[in-house]
Amino acid sequence: MAITLPVFTPLQETLWLTLCGRALDNRLPHPILGDEMADEIVREVGYDYAKLHILSSSAIYIAHRAKKLDEIARRFIARHPDAIGLDLGAGLDSRALRIAPPPTAGWHDVDFPEVVTARQRLLPERARPHDIAADVLGPAWLEALPADRPAVIVADGLIAFLSMEEMISLVNRLIDHFPSGEIAFNGYSTFAVWAQKRFAVGKNVVDVSKFPGLDDPLEPERWNPKLKLVKEILMTREPEVAEFPLGLRLMNRLSAPVASWSRKGNVVLHYRF
Ligand SMILES: C[S@@+](CC[C@H](N)C(=O)[O-])C[C@H]1O[C@@H](n2cnc3c(N)ncnc32)[C@H](O)[C@@H]1O
Repeated sequence: MAITLPVFTPLQETLWLTLCGRALDNRLPHPILGDEMADEIVREVGYDYAKLHILSSSAIYIAHRAKKLDEIARRFIARHPDAIGLDLGAGLDSRALRIAPPPTAGWHDVDFPEVVTARQRLLPERARPHDIAADVLGPAWLEALPADRPAVIVADGLIAFLSMEEMISLVNRLIDHFPSGEIAFNGYSTFAVWAQKRFAVGKNVVDVSKFPGLDDPLEPERWNPKLKLVKEILMTREPEVAEFPLGLRLMNRLSAPVASWSRKGNVVLHYRF
């Protein structure tokens, strides 16, 4: 039976890009992430991903950064089994399924109400332990969460759609709410933002993008004195590059020694507070 989904706004529509990216990675002979659920959803919905013109390199990069964010969340929860986990702008991602938090940890996926309705129709319950239907920039959803437990907060593909002021205010609210924790998100350099505007095939994504780009991984430390960089993860230097198809692997190997080149591409920024 066909599943009816809510009508998404252009901002919400961006979830298809990352979901289809992970689905396409899963169809490669050597997937980087192996997100079967993403693949299943794309097939079930019959989503016409061809219209997104996703290159296999982009699919691999999307899967790779998701894998790094999974690792950060998994490691934090292993050290803090009572943690609160948050995926901000979760889209149709089933990160909880991949990281399998224990029942003592509370995993929460936050996105707009229309997206949460779609999650409920498409994802099995075990993939969405606690969905929060809210604008991450609104105050109420965060106030409803326990404020006495450490938190691991990831945002995969979200910050492109926030202004710098919105990003700083969100980070400050998260740090004020939880006693301690970690925050990780995929970064966008000013070059990446420029290149996306100039060359992106997905005009819809460009139209709703607001983030000006971030070139200095230490800059967020100036947003809040509690925030400290754990690691700027330059993906060109990560072990999974060895599994990339030859051309992409060579390109990554060439960029890897030069941080300023690597920074222009796929990056995950990881902080603690
Ligand atoms: C590129 S998609 C990424 C989705 C998901 N993280 C993934 O990797 O598949 C961006 C997501 O952020 C959500 N989003 C953007 N701005 C938001 C906001 N202010 N509040 C809640 N969700 C937001 C969109 O609805 C969309 O689902």
